[in-house]
Amino acid sequence: MTLRLGAHTIGRLRDSIFEEREDHSGPTGTADGDRARRTRDAERRDVPRDAHDDRRAGCADAGTDDAVSSTASSAAGASRSDDSAARPAPSAASAASGPLRTGPVPRGTARAARTSSPGREVTGVDRLTLRDSEIEEIDLLLTEVTARHGAVDDAAFLREAEVIAHRLPLRLRTFLASCRSRERPLFVVEGWPVRDDALGPTPPDWQEAWRGASGRSDATYRHQLLLVLAASLIGDAFALSTVQDGHLVNHIVPVRGTEEHVSATSSTRELAWHTEEAGFRLRPDHLAFVCLRNPDKVPTTVGLVDDLVLDPAVEEMLRRPLFGMPRLGTEGRIEYAPVLYGPADRPYLSADSVYMSPAPGADTAAEALAVLGAALDAVLRPFTARPGDLYFLDNHRAVHGRPAFRPRYDGTDRWLLRVKAGRDLRGSAACRAGAGARVVDVDRLA
Ligand SMILES: [Fe+2]
Repeated sequence: MTLRLGAHTIGRLRDSIFEEREDHSGPTGTADGDRARRTRDAERRDVPRDAHDDRRAGCADAGTDDAVSSTASSAAGASRSDDSAARPAPSAASAASGPLRTGPVPRGTARAARTSSPGREVTGVDRLTLRDSEIEEIDLLLTEVTARHGAVDDAAFLREAEVIAHRLPLRLRTFLASCRSRERPLFVVEGWPVRDDALGPTPPDWQEAWRGASGRSDATYRHQLLLVLAASLIGDAFALSTVQDGHLVNHIVPVRGTEEHVSATSSTRELAWHTEEAGFRLRPDHLAFVCLRNPDKVPTTVGLVDDLVLDPAVEEMLRRPLFGMPRLGTEGRIEYAPVLYGPADRPYLSADSVYMSPAPGADTAAEALAVLGAALDAVLRPFTARPGDLYFLDNHRAVHGRPAFRPRYDGTDRWLLRVKAGRDLRGSAACRAGAGARVVDVDRLA
């Protein structure tokens, strides 16, 4: 998929990026830009947020620096104050705010919400279908593990998980290791049997899922175990203390009353594309899911970085630290970082279509972000998981989301389990209870 930009737009971006400016007046922005920003902030305040929303998880409003103080108090107390806001270097901001005077930037964010589902299914997905003999092999292993360990959150299980995972079928281990090392953006293991009648009703929320049967008596326990074991082959599973009470495995179900939230629990509102925890420096490298139930074939939407073709001038701008996200664990403290990073021929991406904003006054950065948003919108594709599909996303190589859908609330709703995994957890060592602990205490992040 090739993104074709108008020559005028490219020209203005290129001029702005490569033309050195003498003006170092700082990121004050134009009157139009300020007006657009105020409008944008007002729009964002209208978006309801879930106290346990994993999209937000400690984040307040993601507007601009000047919006922090006014929005932090509305963050439902889930975030903390920090005065050492990481503003962009004035020279970078002023260079980016150069000769582009384009008036109001379209919402200043990467895109507006969309309510329809994108078209044809994503292609280029790596797939492995389990054989009957391999399913039996896994089944035997899980029976043994279930007898020895009572819950996936148990420290004893997590200490052994990686070693246990090396007893999964060779073909499965080879597939996962290969996808990980080749940085495949989306890969799927098919054929794991999920008996719908043995699951019981889809829980009304994650609290109920954990309040009910737990560990061995939980009908999802074997699926949880397999998910964590498989995830252990591509990284170390970890949890955030603010997401589903720090449980390693998250239940993803539609929740009544949150239909319009910016949250995985929403339904009638699209969950717009995003990098998982884009406001967290130690964001997961991978997300792992197992689909338990999906009667209405509600897809996960994915936008693959490999499908993007951006003009070099746009890409150059997106590699500058001019794109703000509320830092996890703070009361909306905006931290600026590049959207694109890594090798020029195989870039990594961190972006959030709702919460990310360009630096104040950095009009060219705003325009580049809007261009990126249009490009991602153009390449966004559905991946429709079936019960028993285990699927894995590289959080640096793909953004993800979900279209709007109509929830059932009758116990048969879409039901996923999710685990986050990192390749190196040392960066969060100071925020975990010990070297082997897997819960990142968000209160200690700031
Ligand atoms: Fe997500």
